[in-house]
Amino acid sequence: MSAKKMAAKMDTDLTVDLGSVTMRNPVLTASGCFGWGREYSQYYPLNQLGGVCAKAVTVSPRDGNSVPRVTEVTAGMLNAIGLANPGIAEVLNSELPWLAAQDVCVWVNIAGAALEEYCQLAEAVADTQLADVLELNVSCPNVKQGGLAFGTDPAVLKRLVRAVRERVNTPLFVKLSPNVTDIRPLAEAAVEAGADGLTLVNTLRGMAVDVKARQPVLSTVHGGLSGPAIKPVALSMVYQTAKTVDVPIVGCGGITSGSDALEFFMVGAGAVQVGTANFTDPWAGPRIVREIEEWMLQEGVRSLDEIRGIAL
Ligand SMILES: Cc1cc2nc3c(=O)[nH]c(=O)nc-3n(C[C@H](O)[C@H](O)[C@H](O)COP(=O)(O)O)c2cc1C
Repeated sequence: MSAKKMAAKMDTDLTVDLGSVTMRNPVLTASGCFGWGREYSQYYPLNQLGGVCAKAVTVSPRDGNSVPRVTEVTAGMLNAIGLANPGIAEVLNSELPWLAAQDVCVWVNIAGAALEEYCQLAEAVADTQLADVLELNVSCPNVKQGGLAFGTDPAVLKRLVRAVRERVNTPLFVKLSPNVTDIRPLAEAAVEAGADGLTLVNTLRGMAVDVKARQPVLSTVHGGLSGPAIKPVALSMVYQTAKTVDVPIVGCGGITSGSDALEFFMVGAGAVQVGTANFTDPWAGPRIVREIEEWMLQEGVRSLDEIRGIAL
């Protein structure tokens, strides 16, 4: 590397400040696409990432849905994993302490079937003081409201976020579902209830049919669509949300390159999460960090603050 390029590199600052959370770079892994990071840590040290957002944890252990529960589709995949996880006791005992020792920002994604479950999980995680951020997965069916997801009704979402906010001081991000007509009232509800930031988006509802078998591919019929197919939808929701609320936004959906991440920064995201891309390229996270940095060097952009929201 030339002396000039080296000096420019030293000036390039990838640090991001998401309000109450600071990360060494803007790239996180997305929940459910990276486990707790143990397997991926065989490929690279996790501190090359800005952060790791872990698989959703629930109160009790869950086996998840029966197979087939994933399938590849054009430009993405469908999953209906059904929140398979070892339950909060095991997570607190083994997964969370391990991840917290990896010198990376730790995001714990929690999921419940009722408001009380979210509160119980939030308190249990907060008590350990090992999580930097709590991310509420509100795409889960609310058992008390006939199975409708928490994240589709602003009033229900507000009650949920407020209840969790009252119990814990840990920075709280709400991960919104894209399966709504208008994302803005949901974003407003979460922020009014005390969310420190928002993650957008979770998977989009979809399905696939096995023509030979003449039936749906997934055992659950419907699943969540992720991967490059959803990037334009995610971008448009981040754009709308950034114009509506004034809290840090983490963009997520179909990001496979530094250029994809830059699109999200330009419509207002302060950081990004990479999900499905990890399945085809286990080095996707650090590669995307590198690609962002190379672009900044080329363009003479020293800090992501210079471009955040520039396309709004
Ligand atoms: C196999 C799989 C499992 C997932 N599990 C979770 C989860 O436990 N909690 C959650 O909030 N999102 C979960 N997601 C959604 C992702 O975190 C992400 O929001 C979505 O896949 C869009 O990003 P992508 O296109 O980069 O994958 C899961 C996605 C996939 C593909």
